[in-house]
Amino acid sequence: SEADKGTYDYYMLKEIDEQPVVIRHLLDKYFDDAGKILLGDQLLADIQAADRLYIVAAGTSYHAGLVGARMLEQWAGLPTEVHVASEFAYDQPLLSQKPFFIFLSQSGETADSREVLQNINRAGFKSLTLTNVSNSTLWREATYALPLMAGPEIAVASTKAYVAQVTLEAILAYALSSRLDLDLEKELSRIAIEIQAIVDDKLTFKRVAEELLVNSQSAFYIGRGVDADVALEAALKLKEISYVQAEGFAAGELKHGTLALIEDGTPVITLLTQPKTAGLVRGNIAETQARGADTFTIATKSLATDGDGYVLPDVDPLLAPLLTVVPTQLLAYYTSLGRGLDVDHPRNLAKSVTVQ
Ligand code: G6P
Repeated sequence: SEADKGTYDYYMLKEIDEQPVVIRHLLDKYFDDAGKILLGDQLLADIQAADRLYIVAAGTSYHAGLVGARMLEQWAGLPTEVHVASEFAYDQPLLSQKPFFIFLSQSGETADSREVLQNINRAGFKSLTLTNVSNSTLWREATYALPLMAGPEIAVASTKAYVAQVTLEAILAYALSSRLDLDLEKELSRIAIEIQAIVDDKLTFKRVAEELLVNSQSAFYIGRGVDADVALEAALKLKEISYVQAEGFAAGELKHGTLALIEDGTPVITLLTQPKTAGLVRGNIAETQARGADTFTIATKSLATDGDGYVLPDVDPLLAPLLTVVPTQLLAYYTSLGRGLDVDHPRNLAKSVTVQ
């Protein structure tokens, strides 16, 4: 069955490897043969009629939401806020006149997200759930629901569901935009091929994990714009399965505190894919190196320099997370493995959190 580990030691690695296929499933599902996007006209009309979108999610799904909000704002021109479900549920921000809600949830069962959905249903607002589990609670209780097509995700640490969420958010934002300079279907097909190349290169990340992270107490991920969003996800992935204390943040914030933690040998991993801010990020890397940081930089081709650790192909800037997240998943996986831990079952954590 699809949920069979096969020759893999852990589900997590199997699920990382499945990511190119997940993108292809989404392309098959949401584009017709003529390249037209199939999301439902009424759904798109309801979103267009809103004056503000509210994305609500938890954990890795929240991090996927941060990326989606940028697409909805920058591609589709729709003001979008992203909220942690457990905060929104008990400290609801002031809402706009015509809000529309988007719930992101791999399981469709996260109790905090459901609490928000019940509140907004009582208020009569419309909503869309993107989930990997058809007929789950968040699927049934929202106005609209779309499947993530990722197949069962078994490892507690979420990987392919994140890629599926970002991909589906891209399709949604693109359908709501009038971008003519991007052929999204073609770009996503190419990205699936490029992800395949990264996972085929997994031993590179095994080596880097062993040299840089396995024996470290802490690690930092930095980047700007959408790279800062992936930095948060990268740090979460590392800490949840390897127990290395990890922090991800906007590179420009280094000087406001975290730089004090950088000493000889501190791992600093940088994501560098945004042309607008590449020069500033280079400056941030240099600041950490001057304090002795052990740096590893993952950069897109046209922004890469000789000392960088890994070079990714150029890609539309807001789609870069689909590529950058993959090396960070592999780094987390091999760090956990190198520390002799049970990758799929981190201590104290559950796959689906049905308590508030
Ligand atoms: C748990 C899982 C995470 C997941 C989060 C949100 O903490 O361990 O991997 O990101 O819940 O779950 P959801 O199913 O709502 O995406």
